[in-house]
Amino acid sequence: MKNILPSPLQYKNNQLCFDGKTLESIAAKKRTPFYLYSKKILRHYYEYFSKSAAKNEIVSPLVCYALKANSNKEVLSTLKTLGSGADVVSVGELKKALSAGIDPQKIVFSGVAKTEEEIRFALRCGKKGIYSFNVESIEELELINQIARKEKRQARVAFRLNPRVAAKTHKHISTGNKTHKFGLLKEDIHEAVAAKHLWTNTTLVGLSIHIGSQLTEMKATVKAIEELSKLALSLETPLEFLDVGGGLGIDYTAEEKLKLASIDQYMATVSQALEKYYYSKTDHCPRVVFEPGRIIVGKMGVLVSRVVRTKTSDNNHFTIIDAGMNDLIRPALYEAYHEVLPSKSSKKMITTDIVGPICETSDCFGTKRKLPKLTAGEIVVIDNAGAYGQTMASNYNEREIAKEYFV
Ligand code: LLP
Repeated sequence: MKNILPSPLQYKNNQLCFDGKTLESIAAKKRTPFYLYSKKILRHYYEYFSKSAAKNEIVSPLVCYALKANSNKEVLSTLKTLGSGADVVSVGELKKALSAGIDPQKIVFSGVAKTEEEIRFALRCGKKGIYSFNVESIEELELINQIARKEKRQARVAFRLNPRVAAKTHKHISTGNKTHKFGLLKEDIHEAVAAKHLWTNTTLVGLSIHIGSQLTEMKATVKAIEELSKLALSLETPLEFLDVGGGLGIDYTAEEKLKLASIDQYMATVSQALEKYYYSKTDHCPRVVFEPGRIIVGKMGVLVSRVVRTKTSDNNHFTIIDAGMNDLIRPALYEAYHEVLPSKSSKKMITTDIVGPICETSDCFGTKRKLPKLTAGEIVVIDNAGAYGQTMASNYNEREIAKEYFV
């Protein structure tokens, strides 16, 4: 089945349009490069994701959007209005989620390096603190218990299980293997559960997994849910939730367009795996937490840039644009593919490398791409830049951080 993931981009009369407006007109008075987002598409993905959970009979789903993918204020307030919770990994993200009005009881806090200050802040949120600290080590649990005791609070915690699976994705964003720094092995979780002194001011409310990002197929996910379920069944504590993490990918390439698991296939996989390995074996009925990032925001955004000049060297043609790896680091960091589109389509194409202004060879958005012969000032768009674009931007080479606009 072909996986159709809606996008705001479309050519109309050879003009590239974003949510129906031409890119030329949108960019006319704006300084490039800038990020451009579509609220319509953002809403589409969040709503599709939650409806698909309901359709697939996921038990009381709680969607905790992973802020690291895109923490723009309007993105967060839109998601909050739609009912989203948040997955945060720093006090900075936590504050952003709270200022968007997200209920602390819909916030999970992941990450291997939560500091004393961050734990204290999260414990003091609202009446009961946050929904869950997703704990990644025994040392962290010890610290949370200590701080909660001082604060006279009870911290809600979940263990992040390292399920020892190898997710098929780029090695930099695979997180579920025993050599990775993430999560706890099941033996260590059993040891922690048995250590009474760790539980005076903490309550075990859930278990979580997150095995990697830009997942296109579901084998490792099923295996991880099996491991999660076995562990949950082996614990005496009845759990309030099972958190299956994030990770569902989007179609950056033509190949991914054909083989990527759709949202519906993903939900059906999660639902069937939980039924098979957990719900069918017990009377307990914990709810399911999701931590999606990329699938919610990836397709809603593009990076808009202008051609600075072109250059030919030997047989190589370069289209030099004003966006660089400091604006969108994914191609440089993961050799990630992003489609680059001209603002006017043309039948006459040349083969060119699209490169940025940064003094590094890896500052390249694509090699040997087919594009029309562009000239200075023309607009090009880097597609699928809504996730891990602006949030990973830097000032490298003393460049300004690109602004973000909605249509
Ligand atoms: N939950 C946890 C604990 C995570 O570490 C992540 C992502 C997510 C949820 C959300 O995963 P998603 O649904 O977005 O795949 N910068 C990389 C991606 C790094 C992902 C890190 N963790 C990229 O640009 O591909």
